[in-house]
Amino acid sequence: MNKTKTVKDYIRTIVDFPHEGIMFRDVTTLFADPRGFRMAVDQMLHPYAGQRIDKVVGLEARGFILGGAIAHQLGTGFVPIRKKGKLPGATISQEYKLEYGEAVVELHKDAIQAGEKILVVDDLLATGGTAGAGIELIEKLGGEIISCAFIIDLPELGGRKHLEELGMDVHVLCE
Ligand code: PRP
Ligand code: ADE
Repeated sequence: MNKTKTVKDYIRTIVDFPHEGIMFRDVTTLFADPRGFRMAVDQMLHPYAGQRIDKVVGLEARGFILGGAIAHQLGTGFVPIRKKGKLPGATISQEYKLEYGEAVVELHKDAIQAGEKILVVDDLLATGGTAGAGIELIEKLGGEIISCAFIIDLPELGGRKHLEELGMDVHVLCE
């Protein structure tokens, strides 16, 4: 009998990318499939139906693809958090550590107004370093984070626990 495919079934794993020992969870195979992509976007936005959300903030790079689609469906604005040096206007920055390195993310100072209700979106939660830095930036501008949504959580890396300790509501589609 044919089993209905779930979001997880569309995600492929690339071993030893970008470094030896990393099992890279590759969502490009999910995004490339029309049923898979729609299922992921629909499931990610489902918990927020009927809630006030003013802006979806997407984390570079795969959070842009999901965040754009989710913002369109929810009828909200979309705001990118980008790696250092990519945003043209005045920015605020935050350093962070990730599973395989260190980086800095930036947010336009005028992208969020104090009191706006924000949904944070990315493809994957590993250590929570990227999302944690994004949360810090959004809160610096006075944004009120309603929730953080991801396709994948890697529970052994503790990202979900980290975000929950920051007081965040976290939704993931699979581990
Ligand atoms: C990946 C992923 C998340 C982040 C998660 O992005 O898309 O943004 O890592 O890891 P963390 O929870 O440990 O911070 P990556 O840093 O590979 O950047 P990219 O999407 O720009 O390639
Ligand atoms: N970002 C951090 N760890 C990752 C992993 N294992 N797969 C995909 N993206 C990641």
